[in-house]
Amino acid sequence: MAGSSEKAPDSGRGVVLMDNWPGYDLDLFTYPQHYYGDLECVLIPHGIIVDRIERLAKDIMKDIGYHDILVLCVLKGGYKFCADLVEHLKNISRNSDRFVSMKVDFIRLKSYKNVLIVEDVVGTGRTMRALLSSIEKYKPNMVKVASLLVKRTARSDSFRPDYAGFEIPDVFVVGYALDYNEYFRDLNLLSFHRRKTVSTRDNQTVASTFLPDPD
Ligand code: IMP
Ligand code: MG
Repeated sequence: MAGSSEKAPDSGRGVVLMDNWPGYDLDLFTYPQHYYGDLECVLIPHGIIVDRIERLAKDIMKDIGYHDILVLCVLKGGYKFCADLVEHLKNISRNSDRFVSMKVDFIRLKSYKNVLIVEDVVGTGRTMRALLSSIEKYKPNMVKVASLLVKRTARSDSFRPDYAGFEIPDVFVVGYALDYNEYFRDLNLLSFHRRKTVSTRDNQTVASTFLPDPD
């Protein structure tokens, strides 16, 4: 169960990007012209994101594919991850002998049975713990959490998702539906944001390049 105090096995960390990971030169890839000057480097190219999600889908089906699954997408940042994950889950289901009933919903509270929460990034873990506690009220049979990214941060409350795509340094990332003030959702790849200037969310600083993003 997500959030238990049990230590996650190392493979549970997903693909680990070390703090000194320089990323790829932006000039080696294409990205929308209006973001020229805003980005630092390519953190994870789109192809690798999608390939990693294919493997997560396989792991998820192996673990919980015998249940009817409700995939619960956490908007807005989780929508690309959710769409690609569901595509892969459907492919596996189509090509297997087992019939897996799968429904997709967006966060909306009602009675849930077997829930797979799909989130873009776990930072401190506070968002996910709050969400889990509100879902627990509805007494689901099972709740699993899949997060595309998990940040290595001293501010973590040690929450670990059941399925993690990539473990990344404590930097602010954009693209693949993750935003910075609603910008960059249309970027296919994941990138560091270049600006040291910051915006505020709940009156707190949220973004700075290569520096931890304080909450
Ligand atoms: P937490 O509560 O610190 O775990 O933060 C999780 C939430 O903050 C995510 O659902 C995102 O919406 C947002 N967030 C955290 N880090 C980033 C980032 O690097 N880029 C975009 N959104 C982020
Ligand atoms: Mg999110």
